[in-house]
Amino acid sequence: MKDIIVQPATGKLGILMPGMGAVATTFVAGVLASRKGIAQPTGSLTQTANIRIGKRTENRNPKIKDFVPLANLNDLVFGGWDVYSDSMYDAAVNAGVLERGLIEQVKDELELIKPMKAVFDKRYVKNLDGTNVKTGATKQDLVDALIEDIDNFKIANDCERLVMVWCGSTEIYHEAKEVHASLENFEAGLLNNDPDIAPSMMYAYAALKSNVPFAMGAPNLCLDIPALEELAKITETPIAGKDFKTGQTLMKTIVAPGLRARALGVRGWFSTNILGNRDGLVLDAPENFKTKEVSKGNVLDGILDARINPELYGDIHHKVRIEYYPPLGDNKEGWDNIDIFGWLGYQMQIKINFLCRDSILAAPIVLDLALFMDLAKRSNLSGIQEWLSFYWKAPQTLPELEPIHDIFKQLEKLENTLRYLMGEELITNLGMDYYEDVDAEVEL
Ligand SMILES: NC(=O)c1ccc[n+]([C@@H]2O[C@H](COP(=O)([O-])OP(=O)(O)OC[C@H]3O[C@@H](n4cnc5c(N)ncnc54)[C@H](O)[C@@H]3O)[C@@H](O)[C@H]2O)c1
Repeated sequence: MKDIIVQPATGKLGILMPGMGAVATTFVAGVLASRKGIAQPTGSLTQTANIRIGKRTENRNPKIKDFVPLANLNDLVFGGWDVYSDSMYDAAVNAGVLERGLIEQVKDELELIKPMKAVFDKRYVKNLDGTNVKTGATKQDLVDALIEDIDNFKIANDCERLVMVWCGSTEIYHEAKEVHASLENFEAGLLNNDPDIAPSMMYAYAALKSNVPFAMGAPNLCLDIPALEELAKITETPIAGKDFKTGQTLMKTIVAPGLRARALGVRGWFSTNILGNRDGLVLDAPENFKTKEVSKGNVLDGILDARINPELYGDIHHKVRIEYYPPLGDNKEGWDNIDIFGWLGYQMQIKINFLCRDSILAAPIVLDLALFMDLAKRSNLSGIQEWLSFYWKAPQTLPELEPIHDIFKQLEKLENTLRYLMGEELITNLGMDYYEDVDAEVEL
């Protein structure tokens, strides 16, 4: 086994977020409340999950945070950018996710977190208009300003290390072009104001240039372009994306592996949901919705694979709809209708009605990603962090690798990576050794 040296998590870790809306404020308020002991960070693997180490008979199931050296919640500091100048306190109140009583208990700290001026381009987010925005003659100037923000934040907050997690809006759908094909082209594009360089790409570029790991929480075309993959390698910085896996897609990657496990056929999967937060408003613009639709659309293909099993999965009608419906706020309601078939082709149906809270599901993902990306950096891992696929709707992989969507396989990958980093044996679940030992004892 390769010897990996994991540097300790000493000093403060700064978590920088482009986008300080519902997800970001729910995350930060939740961490502050957890620190004070007034709420529990439920749903976060790094804070509440256990991991099995060694054989089943050893009964070693430590908490993940006691097994790998992660930054402590008390050592986290928060900052970021937004096109609106509201403090995190005002933004949390506006988002309407958390109860006012809880927000008030962490008000003093939230009020101190004010967004830096954003790099923004309305062409990429049609339904927003913000004023807290940087200006510059070229995109290179804007990137330089972001790098300066990063440096200043690190010094002002006495941070040992930083990570960046995109919690900003979904940008319009666009495809990779020549300017994204290499770092050289990209850097020329920054100087020439190439319109195909999106704001999220500029944040990612600034982070990687500053050796700061970057995770992409929206479905934006951003990290998954050769130029930024190249930069991540050169600067030995971890990257991971994209699109936090919450709500309906989370359910899909839980249910679909079960259907496949039982070799049940699937004819159709219709998913629709209504939500009323600002994210819903942004996704109400067709070009922005397209980005989300593409990211959600591939999830089933990887689990119910028509190429491997055309009899069961060759003709699935998969449709996804999102409707903006303001009265619901952040409380999304999703419906899934799944048409399946079993023995002798007999048809059955499954209906799922998930009354979920988007940001409540996304906030612990931000925390885990921040802590795991920092762990990756301290373990000298760089480039694409496929072991974090667990958290994504559209996991980033090398181009020649197909992403793994099955949540149980993703968890196995994540846990085995942690065991690997700590020099522990990987768990294959073969289990023959238990029985071989018994036989050996009997022979004796
Ligand atoms: N909540 C979930 O379950 C979930 C799941 C997957 C992905 N996401 C994605 O996470 C992102 C955040 O979701 P949310 O509910 O917090 O949305 P939100 O609209 O409440 O917050 C996004 C914030 O980003 C800001 N923003 C937009 N462009 C920016 C830029 N260029 N620079 C800085 N700030 C910018 C907006 O002003 C807004 O305040 C969205 O892209 C959403 O699609 C959310």
